Amino acid sequence: MSLSRASLLAVFTSACGGSFDKPMTLGGVTIPAERLNRGKAAYTQYCRACHGDHGDGTGPASYGLRPPPRDFTAGTFKFAHVSSGQLPTDADFVRIVKGGLHGTAMLAWDVPDATLLDIIQYVKTFSPRWKTETPGTPITPGPDPWGPARKAEAVARGAKLYHGLAQCLQCHAAYETRAQIYADSKELTGNGTTELRANPYEPELKESDYADRHYPPNPDGTYPKLKLLPPDFLLNDARSGSRVTDLYLTIASGVGGTAMPSWKLSLPEADLWALAYYVRSLVEMKDTPRAEALRQALASQPPWKPPAEVTAATGGT
Ligand code: HEC
Ligand code: HEC
Repeated sequence: MSLSRASLLAVFTSACGGSFDKPMTLGGVTIPAERLNRGKAAYTQYCRACHGDHGDGTGPASYGLRPPPRDFTAGTFKFAHVSSGQLPTDADFVRIVKGGLHGTAMLAWDVPDATLLDIIQYVKTFSPRWKTETPGTPITPGPDPWGPARKAEAVARGAKLYHGLAQCLQCHAAYETRAQIYADSKELTGNGTTELRANPYEPELKESDYADRHYPPNPDGTYPKLKLLPPDFLLNDARSGSRVTDLYLTIASGVGGTAMPSWKLSLPEADLWALAYYVRSLVEMKDTPRAEALRQALASQPPWKPPAEVTAATGGT
């Protein structure tokens, strides 16, 4: 008797195109089958058009989108507030879906809270990573050590760190003259930077872990990886938010699956905040005459030679 019930159930399950009939452990939490089925139905309604039936980012509305929708089968995420590369928490998913990612097709979706939490559990079924790993430890900002009263000081410190110590300008655009970059790096590290990449005033295209399945596959069955252009803060939106706190969290966490590392353990708290204040000051300049004036001043700066002490020390003339 029970045997025939089991086989009936098997027929029923396959007829429903793979509904869940048993709980699954995802990110270390056991999720009941009913919840996964509810999540699947809501995903189909709200997310499938872009992220696709199989979660691989090739839904019917995904064609031509830049950046393309996330491929959930890889289990790699950019904007979680955990150390870059770790799995997001449910709170990260909720923030990303409700807040959207500025400047992309990932808008702020108005999904009821309980439904969204069901969708999130279902999204985890697409990648094997959730079966063996748990989410990363959330990075939470401590109190802002600068505060509005010391904003100018924070911005000045951030500009020095950005150009002179943290090497943000290896990937992102620089916003200071070559002479100033030399002075900042000399002050913060003892060694002035004399060699910069070919055009330090434009961001540099960087390799990423994200594949795009809209292209024909490689001979080995994998898909071509996307190259990503770091944002130019005078021109582009920071996708996951441009308030000082958002930028603190982005800089502290890094951007998973991209060249942008996590800085949480490499810099003291006050410096992480100073960098956030500095990037915020660039974002505030966006679309103003000051931004244009800065760009022009940098483009027309006179040729720069390292000071005599450097050429002497390295045996130059
Ligand atoms: C109109 C198309 C579209 C729809 C509909 C859509 N998304 Fe997205 N989604 C995107 C795009 C495009 C990106 C990639 C943004 C990027 O790489 O910066 C993205 C990225 C994401 C990410 C990755 C965030 C990260 O940190 O890497 C998550 C999670 C996500 N979407 C969840 C959802 C969920 C859940 C739904 C349904 C409620 C949904 N999306 C609906 C287009 C869409
Ligand atoms: C090795 C290269 C590299 C370095 C060094 C680097 N970044 Fe990035 N950064 C990137 C890339 C690539 C992206 C874009 C990822 C994408 O397309 O989603 C990015 C994105 C960002 C974003 C935007 C995130 C968003 O919400 O869209 C901010 C803010 C940022 N970086 C700040 C910094 C700061 C400040 C530093 C120095 C402390 C820095 N980065 C150093 C490569 C780098």
